[in-house]
Amino acid sequence: MSTGELPRALGPAQQSSFDVGVRLAQRHGELEGRPAEFELLGLRWDLLPEVFAPIHTASTELFSQWLPYPNGGSFLEIGCGTGVIAVTAALRGCASVSAVDIVPAAVRNTGMNAARHGVADRVRVLRSDMFDALDADQRFDVVFWNSNVIPAPADFDCALPTQRAIFDPGYAAHDRYLREGIARLTENGRLFLGFNSLGDLARLRALAALMDLRVTEMQRATHRTGNAPVTFQLLEISAEHRL
Ligand SMILES: C[S@@+](CC[C@H](N)C(=O)[O-])C[C@H]1O[C@@H](n2cnc3c(N)ncnc32)[C@H](O)[C@@H]1O
Repeated sequence: MSTGELPRALGPAQQSSFDVGVRLAQRHGELEGRPAEFELLGLRWDLLPEVFAPIHTASTELFSQWLPYPNGGSFLEIGCGTGVIAVTAALRGCASVSAVDIVPAAVRNTGMNAARHGVADRVRVLRSDMFDALDADQRFDVVFWNSNVIPAPADFDCALPTQRAIFDPGYAAHDRYLREGIARLTENGRLFLGFNSLGDLARLRALAALMDLRVTEMQRATHRTGNAPVTFQLLEISAEHRL
C-alpha cells in the first residue's frame, strides 16, 4: 500500500487520523513555497527537502521548551528531523548529544544546524533505525522521540520520506521505542515521548502495560494544525518498579 489509499485494517477513528496523516505528509514534503531556512526559538535554522518541517507544526517548539535537558549530561534524540531539539539540548548545557534519524536528509539537516549553531563538537548525528546504529553499551540521561504517532496498517509502505515522520505501521516503532528506550537509560535516566491526539494513546498504554511500564503525561497544549485542533503531550515512560 502506498500514499493516499485508505487502509482497511483501521477502525473509523484511526482511519480519520490516517486521512489527516496523508495530508500532513504531503504538506511536509511540499517544495513549492517551502523556505530553505526558518526561525524558531529566536534562532535561524536550515530546512532541507524531505525533512519534517517545524514550520507546519507546533510540536517541535513545544517539546523543545518542555524537555528537561540534563545540564552536563547526555541526551539522545530519536528522529531528529531538522535537529532543532538536539541542537537546543546542546545549547542548553548537555555535554553530549546523540541525534539519529532513519531519513538521510534529516541526518544531513541536523548536521547543518549543529554546525550553524556552533555545537557540532558535542552533537553526534547518525543515520539509524531507532537505536540500531548506537554502540550497544551507550546509555543516556534523557532519551526523547517526537514520534510519528499516526497508526497505519503493519504492511503500509512509507513511500515518501515525510510519511516516515507521520505514520508508524503496526505501531512497531513505538513498541521498539518503549522496549529499547527504557534499556538505554543511565541509572537515573528519563525516557520521554512527544505524542499528540492524532496518535493512539490507548494502544501506546497497552504496549507499555505489557512491558510493566507506566505512561505519565507531563505537559499538554492544544494548537490548530491545518483545520483541526491537535493536543500535544509530553509523556514520560517509566518502569513501574522505579516509582
Ligand atoms: C514527528 S518527526 C519529528 C522531527 C523532529 N524531531 C522535530 O521535532 O521537528 C519524527 C521523526 O522521526 C523519524 N523516524 C521515523 N521512524 C524512525 C525510525 N525507525 N528510526 C529513526 N527515526 C525515525 C522521522 O524521519 C522524523 O524525522
